[in-house]
Amino acid sequence: MFSAKTYAARRNMLRTKIGSGIVLFPGNPLSPNNYPNNAYYFRQDSSFLYYFGLNIPSLAGLIDADTGEEALYGDDFTVEDIIWTGPQPTLRELGAKVGIAATHPLSELEKRLRKAISLGRKIHFLPPYRGETKLWLSSLLGIKPTLLHDYKSVDLMFAVAEMREKKSAEEVEEMERAFQIGYKMHTLAMKMCRPGVVEREIAGAIEGVAKSYGSGVSFPSIVSQHGETLHNLNADGVLEEGRLLLCDAGGETVDNYCSDHTRTYPVSGKFTQKQKDVYNIVLAAHDHVADIVKPHMMYSEIHNAAYTTLAEGLAGIGLIKGSAADAVAAGAMTMFMPHGLGHGLGMDVHDCEAMGERSFDFSSIAQRAAKSATCIYRAAWRLEPGTVMTDEPGLYFIPALIDKCRAEGLYKGIVDYDALEGYRDFGGIRIEDDILVTESGSRMLGDKKIPVTVEELEAVVGR
Ligand code: GLY
Ligand code: MN
Ligand code: MN
Repeated sequence: MFSAKTYAARRNMLRTKIGSGIVLFPGNPLSPNNYPNNAYYFRQDSSFLYYFGLNIPSLAGLIDADTGEEALYGDDFTVEDIIWTGPQPTLRELGAKVGIAATHPLSELEKRLRKAISLGRKIHFLPPYRGETKLWLSSLLGIKPTLLHDYKSVDLMFAVAEMREKKSAEEVEEMERAFQIGYKMHTLAMKMCRPGVVEREIAGAIEGVAKSYGSGVSFPSIVSQHGETLHNLNADGVLEEGRLLLCDAGGETVDNYCSDHTRTYPVSGKFTQKQKDVYNIVLAAHDHVADIVKPHMMYSEIHNAAYTTLAEGLAGIGLIKGSAADAVAAGAMTMFMPHGLGHGLGMDVHDCEAMGERSFDFSSIAQRAAKSATCIYRAAWRLEPGTVMTDEPGLYFIPALIDKCRAEGLYKGIVDYDALEGYRDFGGIRIEDDILVTESGSRMLGDKKIPVTVEELEAVVGR
C-alpha cells in the first residue's frame, strides 16, 4: 500500500470536490463460495482501497465533507477469529496506517448514519455492485436494495472517477509491476502453445503465474482457439495445427493494480498467409492507435481511427468494397469488431466501470458525463495525462453475426459477403496493450514488448 499521506491527500481532495454531506465507502465483505467459511479469494472494493488503502474485509470508511471528520468502522478480531486467522492488527493500528485516528465498531455506523439522515444530511455513496454490499447499505440506510440506485450519489461518482482516472507517479509504478506479471503470463502461454495441449492447461498455468507474483488475475483468463467469441471462458479445446490461439489475460499486483493484454498466434508456430494478412491489419490498427494517442483526445476519435485502419485493411484483402470511410460511416465495422477499441485500466480492469455506463442506464446523466469526460462513460471520454487506456483492436469472423447482417441486408455494396464465406471458420484476432497518456503524448506501459509482430511471435511460439 501507499503511505498514509497519499490516502489522506486523496480524502482531502475528495472532500473539497464534494463540498457537503457525508461520504460513505463500504469496503467489501468476504463472499461465500459454497458455504460461509469457504469464501472466494477476497477482493477489496477499488474505491475503498483508493481512499482508505486497507485490503481487509468488512470495513467502512466515512468522510464528513462539512466538518472534515474522517472515520474507519470495523470490528477488532476476537480470540475466536484469531484461532482461524492468526494474530491481526487492531482497528486502531489499521487506521494509523492510512492516517485515520477515529476508529469505531461497525455497530456504531448505522447509528451515525441514521442520525445524519434525521438531520436531513446527504449521504453520498457509489452505486453498489455486489449483493452483500447492497444488503448492507440497505440496512444501514433504510433503503430497499432495489431502490439503492435511485439514491446513489452522482456527485460522488464523478468526483471519484475524475480522481481515480488520473494515475499518479506511484500508481504508474504499480501498473508497471502489473505489466511485469502480464509479461510473464503471456510469454509462458506462448511457450506452452503446441498441438495437443488443452486450452485449460495454459489458462491454469498462467493464472498460477498471476497468483504467484501478485494477488491473482485481473479477470478470468480467455485462452481459446475460438477468438471470435469475445469473452470465451470455455477452455476445453485441444490445440490443433492450423488454428489460432487467442490469449487475453492480465494480472493484478499485490496492491491491486491491473494489467490487460491480448495476443493471438498460430498453434503450429507459423502463420498461414491468410492468417498473417488479417493479423497485420489488426496490428496496423493497434500501432496506429499507439502512435496517435495524446492528451485531450476524445476516445471516440481513437476508436474511429482504429475502425478506419481496420477497414482499409479489409478493403485490401477484398472483404470491403469502396472507401474505408464509407464502411465506418455505415457501421459495417461493428460486424468485424463488435466492441470498443479500449477501456480505462487501473485498480479495476475496466476502470471505474463499477460506477459507470456498464452498471446502469447512463442516459439520465449523459450531459453530466460529457462535462466530466471520464472513462465511466466512453461516449464522452476525454483522455488526460495520467489516463491509462487499453488499445485492443480486433477482427472477428462471427458466423451468426455475419449471417444476421446478410439476412437483414445490412452493409449492402460495402461488405463482400461472398468473399467473407471463405473466413467462416477463421476465428478471431485481438491484440491488446496498455497505454499511458503523458503530458506530451503517450507510451505503452512496460519496459519491454510482449512479442507482437508476426516474426516475434513465430520466433517464440515456433521455437
Ligand atoms: N479482458 C477483457 C477486456 O479486454 O476487456
Ligand atoms: Mn483484455
Ligand atoms: Mn481489455
